Amino acid sequence: MFTPNATGACRLVGEAYPFRRGSRLVLTADNHNSVNGIREYARARGARVAYLPVRPPELRVGDDDMRAALSRGRGLLAYPAQSNFTGVQHPLGWIGLAHERGYDVLLDAAAFAPANRLDLSAVRPDFVPVSWYKVFGYPTGVGCLLARRSALRRLRRPWFAGGTIQAVSALGGWHVLASDETAFEDGTLNFLAIPDVTFGVEWVDGIGLDLIHRRVSRLTAWTLERLRSLRHGDGTPMIRVYGPSTAEGRGGTIAFNVLDPRGEVVDERVVARDTSAAGISIRTGCFCNPGAGEGAFRIERRTLRSRALRRPMRDLDAYLGVLGLPSGGAVRASFGLVSNEADVDRLIALLADTYRDRTPREQALHPRERC
Ligand SMILES: Cc1ncc(COP(=O)(O)O)c(C=O)c1O
Repeated sequence: MFTPNATGACRLVGEAYPFRRGSRLVLTADNHNSVNGIREYARARGARVAYLPVRPPELRVGDDDMRAALSRGRGLLAYPAQSNFTGVQHPLGWIGLAHERGYDVLLDAAAFAPANRLDLSAVRPDFVPVSWYKVFGYPTGVGCLLARRSALRRLRRPWFAGGTIQAVSALGGWHVLASDETAFEDGTLNFLAIPDVTFGVEWVDGIGLDLIHRRVSRLTAWTLERLRSLRHGDGTPMIRVYGPSTAEGRGGTIAFNVLDPRGEVVDERVVARDTSAAGISIRTGCFCNPGAGEGAFRIERRTLRSRALRRPMRDLDAYLGVLGLPSGGAVRASFGLVSNEADVDRLIALLADTYRDRTPREQALHPRERC
């Protein structure tokens, strides 16, 4: 069914999943906030929420941790097929395992789908959020939730809206939801943009998803190699990569920080400023994925549970102060079907020219207002 974005797809599942006292929501710490947010629905209905940590250096989730978590209780497992922070591709084999143990599975494919084939006849997740502009760049504002019909029947929608019902009475106080996916499509859909999804899918098909996959993998491997080889004059590394250091078991997203000649992290806002002045589009911050960030910066669970963090503060910098973090996040380079070798050359040349043997000025940076 169509949704406004992948977030809308996650929300449809969260608000309607039959969480109850005694059931569980198992989440990998590496999750986008749009999946993390499902925990609030689970908690409100008395379900237990279990997070599985990411382990350095590759920031993957341990198979043993997953098996142990799924050996308890029943409920929903939610994880990304590919991390939007580190690019880690988490095992699709967990889907079958979760089913054997009585869990439903939400597989977040938002970061995976643009350059990887997801064969839904071979792996059978119950719910798969997708965001179409991430696949072919346009249109924004259209996502979808792919769902097994049997899984949809287990959901209980907390409300109804225009377009979702078969019949309803105002004075009678009853309603009957539509028996198909339209029961989940609230109100008027983005009907002018949705037909563009057909063109986008055909365009990607014409290029070939396997070709896109190979291209993205090679650009990723090559970039990782070149980032590793960036050194200051005394041989110390200029770059710290978070997540896998090779292209094995990962997609085309590389999170890193630039290090100055003393080995200190260069403020990510400086890198954002310099790359954007050079016309290079990269993202900086924590990428709506706090768990991967907490793993990357090795923040202790005890510190994260500090009471001081639970109240609203002036801005994000105040939170970073409590956590004792030197920077507000990482820098992220992502590759897709339009990326090419020249893009990599330009990024590497900019990093080398701007930061080799230099400590950049950090004046006049705007405060970090929010995550
Ligand atoms: C892995 C992942 N999941 C979910 C989302 C949310 O997608 P949307 O912005 O389409 O709601 C994103 C967005 O970047 C993402 O990368």
